[in-house]
Amino acid sequence: MKILIVDSHRETGELYMTLAPFFDVQVVDEFEEAKAYLDRPDGVQVDVVIVRFLLPDGKGTELAAYVKEYHPEIPVFVANEDASLDHWKEATAAGALFLPIPFDAAKVKQVCGRNKKKPPIETPDQNRQQLQPKAVPQETAVKSVSKEEKGTPSPLPDAEQEVPSASKREEEIEVPSPTKTVSIAPEPKKRVKKLRQKIYNEHYCTVITVFSPKGGVGKTTTTVNLASLLKTELDIRTAILEFSRQTGNVLGHFPLNPTMDVGNWLELSKPPKETEIEDMLLWCPNTEVAVLPTRKLLDDDQEKVKIKPEEATDIIQTLHPHFDCIVIDGGTILDDVLFKLLEVSDHVLMISKMERETLQDCHYMPLMMERRGIDTEKLMNVLNQAKKGLGLSISDAKDMVGVQNSHVIHFDPGVEKVAKEKEPYIIRTKSKSKYFKEIWDLASKLIDHPEFEDQPSLFQKLKFWG
Ligand SMILES: Nc1ncnc2c1ncn2[C@@H]1O[C@H](COP(=O)(O)OP(=O)(O)OP(=O)(O)O)[C@@H](O)[C@H]1O
Ligand SMILES: [Mg+2]
Repeated sequence: MKILIVDSHRETGELYMTLAPFFDVQVVDEFEEAKAYLDRPDGVQVDVVIVRFLLPDGKGTELAAYVKEYHPEIPVFVANEDASLDHWKEATAAGALFLPIPFDAAKVKQVCGRNKKKPPIETPDQNRQQLQPKAVPQETAVKSVSKEEKGTPSPLPDAEQEVPSASKREEEIEVPSPTKTVSIAPEPKKRVKKLRQKIYNEHYCTVITVFSPKGGVGKTTTTVNLASLLKTELDIRTAILEFSRQTGNVLGHFPLNPTMDVGNWLELSKPPKETEIEDMLLWCPNTEVAVLPTRKLLDDDQEKVKIKPEEATDIIQTLHPHFDCIVIDGGTILDDVLFKLLEVSDHVLMISKMERETLQDCHYMPLMMERRGIDTEKLMNVLNQAKKGLGLSISDAKDMVGVQNSHVIHFDPGVEKVAKEKEPYIIRTKSKSKYFKEIWDLASKLIDHPEFEDQPSLFQKLKFWG
């Protein structure tokens, strides 16, 4: 992976020192130099641009905007020591991702992989080709093998390029000379485990958006039960944000009064102070999940959406440091707000149901995401309320959607009954039900947590019992 670092501190700067041992890096000092490098007629392939917030001849965000306009396939990170909300806002407004300094090289690899944008596509025919499986470069091939082995997408760097944290780097890896291109040798398995642990221990908030192009398929139910399981079973500090843009129904699952909602947040003249954030949320007494419900966000004419994409991401950014996971009910409206949410999320759960029309609508989502440069690898089809006897097999339903990552949640008659009692079903059913197991398995595909590691394989269990 080739990273272009734009930083006047050059070889002595933190950006260079953190990344050079692990990536093929090119450093330039200034805005104009970076532009010249990216626009070179010999077309050197740059995979990621990381730019310092302030450059001697301009702002990093101006370069980010330039890259977004002229090289939209290249993701850009704006890095800065001061990780204030204003810096984050400025970076995201320029179409970049914000990277606080100091950071961990492993995390950069992880984030770069996730946010690698695909080039914009011109015609529907070409779009279709993009969705076909094709010969993958070696790095991707290694990653998909390891995913299959584990049965879940790993949020970690692939084993071939496993890297230690920035802080451990000096004892464990020989730092090469600045001009060398570095390729990483395969790491021993032990290192992988250590790294996983490290990433978990550091604060990282996973953002998951749940949506569906069709209503009534189980978005809110999945959001509520997934979030409640994360908090009650794994003690992952979790918030639910409801950005559904219709009247929401998250509060139907909790014994909470709607005293605070997204609308109240938007009415604030400035972002809440750190000390005020807890009071801006509702806290569920039996799960300790925080909830920011929506209310009617459409105008009276039902057309103009009151929330803007940046307002939604501002709320996420403000809550980010306070939680380990944010689960968003993104609703059904495929507008700029939803696509912005998909862009900033780590995982996107598209809920489908075993109805042909719903499955067909879901089929077009990867195309719509690709066209907007949103990484489709983070998309997972959750086939909800699955059951036999609907004239469609589960495999056929998955094929109709055509998304590689998928997860099945079966129809459970208890879901509806318990929701009426204003309690997430997962609390009532505990580990007894298939529904619990299916939500647990879903969580294990999304969150890096020690509970999900080192689960004995079926083979190991058989050996033990044998
Ligand atoms: N796995 C399941 N088994 C049985 N019933 C389910 C399951 N998941 C959801 N339901 C039921 O399906 C109905 C719709 O669920 P939910 O309100 O979560 O859908 P939604 O996609 O959020 O709808 P909307 O688009 O109106 O917001 C509810 O009655 C819910 O109880
Ligand atoms: Mg809903």
